[in-house]
Amino acid sequence: MPLITLGIESSCDETGIALYQMGRGLLAHALYTQVAMHNEYGGVVPELASRDHVRRVIPLVRQVMSKAAVSLDQISAIAYTQGPGLGGALLVGASIANSLAYALGIPTIGIHHLEGHLLSPLLSDPAPEFPFVALLVSGGHTQLMRVDGVGLYTLLGETLDDAAGEAFDKSAKLLGLGYPGGPALAKLAALGRPGLYKLPRPMQHSGNLDFSFSGLKTAVLTLVKQSDNDEQTRADIAYAVQEAIVDVLAHKARAALTHTGLNQLVVAGGVGANQLLRSRLTESVGSRGGKVFYPALEFCTDNGAMIAFAGALRLAQQQGRKDYRFNVKPRWNLAEIVP
Ligand code: KG4
Ligand code: ZN
Repeated sequence: MPLITLGIESSCDETGIALYQMGRGLLAHALYTQVAMHNEYGGVVPELASRDHVRRVIPLVRQVMSKAAVSLDQISAIAYTQGPGLGGALLVGASIANSLAYALGIPTIGIHHLEGHLLSPLLSDPAPEFPFVALLVSGGHTQLMRVDGVGLYTLLGETLDDAAGEAFDKSAKLLGLGYPGGPALAKLAALGRPGLYKLPRPMQHSGNLDFSFSGLKTAVLTLVKQSDNDEQTRADIAYAVQEAIVDVLAHKARAALTHTGLNQLVVAGGVGANQLLRSRLTESVGSRGGKVFYPALEFCTDNGAMIAFAGALRLAQQQGRKDYRFNVKPRWNLAEIVP
């Protein structure tokens, strides 16, 4: 009987479903993004997100099963995102996962969303080997972790206020760009000219591995208010914002490698899709003899594959449960999870 894990991700505004088979790899995955629906409101509306997950999960499960030619009786476990994220949205994935698993008599496993991101570069080839340093940069988190194995995570540093993705999103909003702001800001920055505006690099030289991005947002607000609103000026500002965020991330990631004495860096989370961050990290880590690993672009932002994969690894550690009682954890510190 093949060990096939169904993964369900529903923590925010993306419904991600995937099937992962131990020993074979990813069989199929599908994603539905609610971006267009939330764009109208300038950010995620939690209640709308939950209701849309209800509509999407089952059809997407059918879709991946048909793509992979896998039938219900071949699925051996169901992994779902248990947290952190939006409570209602998480509950949709958790309740469908547990009721389907109950009907099939198979185990479930609740996965920490960031563990999914953290392990997602292992889906690529070549994959990093433990131990490595992970730079987790998503819409809600900015953390540097030391990863010694599945479940063996040590926090090296994190943001004291806004996340890097939030800094992208909030700056984009100030520049009149839509949601999500990161990709929109990066696109506008490509038209910008270097060196016209200087923005702060908060905590770059703090001597530790923590971050702070809220001061940057204030600086952008002041700059936008003082400047013309023409397309070129906005592009020049976007350029400076992206430079500032990427500079700080690259500087601290390199410092984390020096601090731990490791030479593999894994980048995970939505901001990991940023091309400037990728080239800057590859250059800066490469120059000290290190190597940077990125998940495939489609697995940088939220997706079901990382949840199916993390679930498969956790199930291999006998962590599946068959009691079908579940609770979601909208706030959940990665350091609290059981190795
Ligand atoms: O990991 P993710 O999809 O969702 C969370 O778990 O938060 O990350 C979403 C974040 C958003 O802040 C989005 O603006 C940012 O990732 N992002 C980017 C890019 N693509 C997504 N930021 C900068 N450049 C990008 N290309
Ligand atoms: Zn995420």
